[in-house]
Amino acid sequence: MAKSKQSKNRFEITASNVKKNVKNLEKVTEIEKPGKKEAKDSKILKDFSKQAPSSKKTPQSGKKTQEIKGGFENEYKKLKIQLESTRHENSELLADLEQVRMESRNLRSKLIGLGVDISSLRADEIEDDSPEESETKENIRLLEWRLKTLYTDLKGKETRKQLFLHYKGGTGKTCISVSYAYKLADLGFKVLMVDIDPLGHLTEIFKVENVDLKESLYDVLIHGKDITNAIWNTRVPNLHIVPSNLSLSAIELPLSSMPMPGERLRMALARIEENYDFIIIDSAPNVGFLSLNAILASKDLFIPVLADYLSYHGLKVLFEVISSIEKDFSFAFDNISVFLNRFNEFNDVCFTTKRALETHYSDFLLKTVIRESQDIASAMSLGQPIFEVSKTSRGVEDLLKFIFEVLFYIGG
Ligand SMILES: Nc1ncnc2c1ncn2[C@@H]1O[C@H](COP(=O)(O)OP(=O)(O)O)[C@@H](O)[C@H]1O
Ligand SMILES: [Mg+2]
Repeated sequence: MAKSKQSKNRFEITASNVKKNVKNLEKVTEIEKPGKKEAKDSKILKDFSKQAPSSKKTPQSGKKTQEIKGGFENEYKKLKIQLESTRHENSELLADLEQVRMESRNLRSKLIGLGVDISSLRADEIEDDSPEESETKENIRLLEWRLKTLYTDLKGKETRKQLFLHYKGGTGKTCISVSYAYKLADLGFKVLMVDIDPLGHLTEIFKVENVDLKESLYDVLIHGKDITNAIWNTRVPNLHIVPSNLSLSAIELPLSSMPMPGERLRMALARIEENYDFIIIDSAPNVGFLSLNAILASKDLFIPVLADYLSYHGLKVLFEVISSIEKDFSFAFDNISVFLNRFNEFNDVCFTTKRALETHYSDFLLKTVIRESQDIASAMSLGQPIFEVSKTSRGVEDLLKFIFEVLFYIGG
């Protein structure tokens, strides 16, 4: 009995755990490339610089992100102060825990010596995690705890309309947006996802079948039908979806001859937005009326960027398009957030891209870096958000960090 009590305490939010967690979070957030590799990178860096945006083509609307980034750092500082005041509380517990671990190992050896089959015992009750695994688990517990606080602060505030967009395919729009939406719903927010990619990958994840039987997004945008009839429940409580279907692939031409062709999604969503805390749009990777509708219907823009040259180059094009849309439609995003996805710590180009983003897009760049993760890839191949597949992994940790940073600056 004593053992299981102590084992549970190991994950409590105690001073020393928090201290370790803050250190871990800082470490993960500030992945730095060793200086000696810089010379080797310089040629690539020059190529990246050629693709830097000219300041006049950079949208002005995301400046708020930069202001809030200061607040995000302050939040870490506050956490540090909080733990300093209670730092001694946990040392005894850690000593006890170490003893329990030793006893557990001894007991295990004795049982094996006596020929007892211990294979049915739960491994996590007996075996220690590696240092990396325990760091990840502790970070996850800290982040889950912080997210619950942010949920209480944000619930009931104005609906956030958010878009995941990049004109390059495969950067993680669907994969990150679906996990993000899932976690928000899991926290208790009311969430609506809108799939405007004719390929319908998001729709596939929620296995919404017979989408032709109800009114589709096509009917909403072209025939002005009520979007309520195009909304479906999903297996996740609090999470609804407007599914996509192939009819959307033929929508560009009819849409172009409609009045206000770029603002039809915004007008449709206006009817139902008060029912939701978050409306999250997953876009297709192309320029056209569909993505224009998604842009004009949103207030926060999230741009996942792979740490490679093409993804970086696509970012410049995207910023130019947004800049001209802002001008032509007297429209402005409240926040624009660029973030690195599929970051590989063993790949030089990843660090080069990160430095280029820090240099040229610092006003928009989130601190969170989502690392290349086997768990994220496996979850997607199973057609599930990562949180349905894994509770403790690097992918879960990075996604939670992303959600925490986003909710923090929205709340700030
Ligand atoms: N952080 C990551 N680690 C590993 N695989 C990832 C990660 N992010 C995305 N992927 C994989 O990249 C592929 C493309 O992602 P997806 O979300 O479909 O991109 P998009 O919607 O931008 O076209 C998917 O197979 C997904 O599993
Ligand atoms: Mg997609």
